[in-house]
Amino acid sequence: MDPAPGGPVSARPAPRLLTALAGGVPDATPVWFMRQAGRYQPQYRQLRTRYGMLELTNTPSLAAQVTVAPVRDLGVDAAILFSDIMVPVGPAGVDFEIREGVGPIVARPIRDAAGVAALREVEPARDLPEVLEAVERSVAALAGVPLIGFAGAPFTLASYLIEGRPSRQYIETKRLMWGDPLLWEALMRHLSRVVGAHLAAQAGAGASVLQVFDSWAGALSREDYTAQVAPHMRRLFAHLTPLGVPVIYFAVGASHLVEAMAATGPTALSVDWREPLGQVRRRLPPGMPLQGNLDPVALLAAWPSLIHQARTVVAEGGRQGFVFNLGHGILPTTDPETVRRLVQWVHDETASSRPDGGIRP
Ligand code: CP3
Repeated sequence: MDPAPGGPVSARPAPRLLTALAGGVPDATPVWFMRQAGRYQPQYRQLRTRYGMLELTNTPSLAAQVTVAPVRDLGVDAAILFSDIMVPVGPAGVDFEIREGVGPIVARPIRDAAGVAALREVEPARDLPEVLEAVERSVAALAGVPLIGFAGAPFTLASYLIEGRPSRQYIETKRLMWGDPLLWEALMRHLSRVVGAHLAAQAGAGASVLQVFDSWAGALSREDYTAQVAPHMRRLFAHLTPLGVPVIYFAVGASHLVEAMAATGPTALSVDWREPLGQVRRRLPPGMPLQGNLDPVALLAAWPSLIHQARTVVAEGGRQGFVFNLGHGILPTTDPETVRRLVQWVHDETASSRPDGGIRP
């Protein structure tokens, strides 16, 4: 019988992603993928023949369309806002482009006090209304499926602003960090404010999870991370905690940093494929949720090899407080049908309705 109008309606079960990030056991393991919206999708490539990448992020109807598509096409348990980590530094005064196959290119890299002093504060409602409208439109279209808002972490953004382009060695970044600690501090504080405001605004517009991409933090020694980056992350996460939204902290090649990253105060850690999840978990505070960690290249391998690796991820991740993801973004040459089959496989393999309760002997 339908509930009486205005009467109690049956409660919708909590989304799997939120259950897992609260440290619980969902009815099946939630799955989403970094870069689940992008060039590996035919519809995305089609849109890109007509619009530039930044044009897409700046047009709320198109950004929402691209954001929502993977939920419909792949059956993933969350959408991530279609945007880029560089978007909020635009209104701070940084002139950049995103070059296909390369990444962000900054017109005038920041390497001195004048460059840092010229940075402006960012007020998302005033400076990034298109992004917030894209969040609102996505949330409306997702009908209860969680939307993940995101930002780059201050260190990873600083590395682009200082190097001016993607880097392998981070020579100029480390030169500034070691050579002028006060200037480094000023830059990191400025970027932390931009990132904190941007994340809070996305949560305010309806994002129910936030992810902070510190993609390149693994380039730092544990000592440098702890002294020069961790204090800023601690302040950022403390700023976000009152929002009541779970925050996932991600880095690549950062196995040596997991304890230090966990200690900065995120809700959950997202890790790459270099260390088995079970080992990572033993190094984290008890109960801290974990996300990861399939090698994105596994999606290019033959199905049996992919499933062999996915099975390891599911077994190591466990049923409680675990979100299935990749260790980094989906590669552009990935077949979307393989991604869709993998989502289905993870859900089937981990479903609590399985005769064995989702637990294999
Ligand atoms: O689906 C999603 O994950 C959401 C959207 C998203 C993009 N970038 C879209 C994008 C997210 C979360 C990001 C974050 C981002 N951007 C990071 C952190 C994650 C990571 O990969 O480590 C970084 C380092 C960037 C900077 C950046 N922007 C790079 C390295 C590139 C790739 C350049 C290339 O052509 O390979 C971009 C461009 C970009 N951002 C694309 C997409 C879909 C490709 C755009 C296109 O050419 O159409």
